[in-house]
Amino acid sequence: MQTQIITIDPEKINNEKIKECGAILRNGGLVAFPTETVYGLGALATDADAAKKIYAAKGRPSDNPLIIHIADPADAERYAYTCELYYKLADAFMAGPLTIILPKKSTVPHAVTGGLDTVAIRCPAHPIAKALIESAGAAIAAPSANLSGSPSPTEGRHVIDDLSGRIDAIIDGGNAEIGLESTIVKIDGDTLTLLRPGAITRDALLCVCEKVEVASAVTAALAENEKPLSPGMKYRHYAPNAPLVLLDGDERDIQAFIIKQSKHERCLMLAYTEEISLLRGVDTIDIGERDDLQTQAKRLFSALRAANELELDKIYAHLPTQSGLGLALYNRMIRAAAHTVVKI
Ligand code: TXA
Ligand code: MG
Repeated sequence: MQTQIITIDPEKINNEKIKECGAILRNGGLVAFPTETVYGLGALATDADAAKKIYAAKGRPSDNPLIIHIADPADAERYAYTCELYYKLADAFMAGPLTIILPKKSTVPHAVTGGLDTVAIRCPAHPIAKALIESAGAAIAAPSANLSGSPSPTEGRHVIDDLSGRIDAIIDGGNAEIGLESTIVKIDGDTLTLLRPGAITRDALLCVCEKVEVASAVTAALAENEKPLSPGMKYRHYAPNAPLVLLDGDERDIQAFIIKQSKHERCLMLAYTEEISLLRGVDTIDIGERDDLQTQAKRLFSALRAANELELDKIYAHLPTQSGLGLALYNRMIRAAAHTVVKI
């Protein structure tokens, strides 16, 4: 299949190009597009056959449900049974990087929800995503636009690398602002369960809802036979080609450890900006300043992709903090590392 690569400037949206992409979606085709979190691989959310094409293009297991993207929080009524807490969250965080799980209506086929009776709803803040949804005339079902198991794409070229030849079109709209996927919450009465941490932090959610529980799979490995609250929790994610090892301990001890390791193995350190000059003789990728979690979030997935271009025995990184945006970084990194943490 020939994939059209369409470049659109998010600050000066070309409506003709958006219309073309909207038409592809209405005709059952697949279009990858930028959002503020990561790139998505879109199909019309009301079209079961188009949803099946998403699973085939990504190589994704068909029981792992898709998020549906709407242009306005009130459009959730077409697809889901909403409640007061939904609108409180929508007022606080939409449009933005929050996904809310609600009971689904029959307008959403089971092919989109992996057979579940609930649907994940998100209203992205990115102007290209919003324009595309409006042009499609219905919600767009979209997982991250990567091959299943590889890091989510934060740049147009990541999508081109993974999905060229497999889908109808890719909109290249520059780099993703946030770089980690949306926060996912499930509403149960007056309680929120955090299924996937993201840029909307637990503290931010607590400003709207008094009870926010963090699903155990966010920080710990699922126990054998444990049923995940979200099907995506059971799949290994973002696994780089070389094993990723997270290092926990005093920063100077970690630096000494890495310098020693680099003498007898081909290793790479995802290092803080401040320590790069101290890591003499070590291959590094600058992940951002120690306390700048936003930059670290923005760079993580492209760093993991860059590591895959190298011949390596090991990739090392600091074990992130679990507070604020750190919880989202921790969750992605601990999974990329298959929970390998070494105490230094
Ligand atoms: O930021 C994002 O959320 C990006 C952009 C494209 O919007 N999308 C994204 O989609 O990360 P995906 O498919 O890569 O991750 C969606 C996660 C999966 O882990 C899936 O299992 C979970 O959401 N999910 C979807 N529907 C669900 C449901 N009804 N109940 C529980 N979990 C659900
Ligand atoms: Mg994904």
